[in-house]
Amino acid sequence: MAGESTHRLFIAVELPEELKRSLGRLRTLHPDLERELRWVRSESIHITLRFLGSATAEQREALVTGLTGLSFGGEFALECRGVGMFGGAARPRVLWAGVTGETQKLASVHGSVEAMCARLGWPEEEREFKPHITLARPRGRGLFTARASLEDLLSRYADTDFGGFTAREVTLYSSRLGPGGSVYTPVTRVSFHNREAPD
Ligand code: 2AM
Repeated sequence: MAGESTHRLFIAVELPEELKRSLGRLRTLHPDLERELRWVRSESIHITLRFLGSATAEQREALVTGLTGLSFGGEFALECRGVGMFGGAARPRVLWAGVTGETQKLASVHGSVEAMCARLGWPEEEREFKPHITLARPRGRGLFTARASLEDLLSRYADTDFGGFTAREVTLYSSRLGPGGSVYTPVTRVSFHNREAPD
């Protein structure tokens, strides 16, 4: 397939700049982990709802139409609290920040997005939806030299309140691999108020 006509796509909830900056600060506060963790650039931090992978321009257009046609129940409040590691400090896979607040509304948005993707022929996501904000992934297989630092970070920020925000829209992103990691470009944004009756 010609490279130009395929896009790596995913659907996500964007975070406000201030929250992304505050999460991005974790990286600068822990330079000792730099060698072993590949951090997500702070401007790219988000809550993934659905990863789609490579898609043709036609599939992308169908997703834009599908997403625009969904009706959501309006905006809701989320908070970003705590830091954890899928896999634990022993088998680290994803360093994440937690999502709390009206997470049942986020789960409902996720369900609508998932159903829309299934209608368009995308295979059903097998993993249970665990809302989280990916901050970093290990560069290699083990975090042996930095394990104590990692454990320190995990206990220090286990319950830190990074701030709340109002989730107002969902974004379809196109991801392109650049020299410093993936660069995300919004393709379309759909408001959670899109189908509500006007006041
Ligand atoms: P994550 O937030 O759970 O880490 C954009 O690349 C997003 O899509 C990432 O933040 C990641 O979700 C998700 N993603 C990337 N590659 C993936 C893959 N191979 N399978 C599932 N999700 C993936």
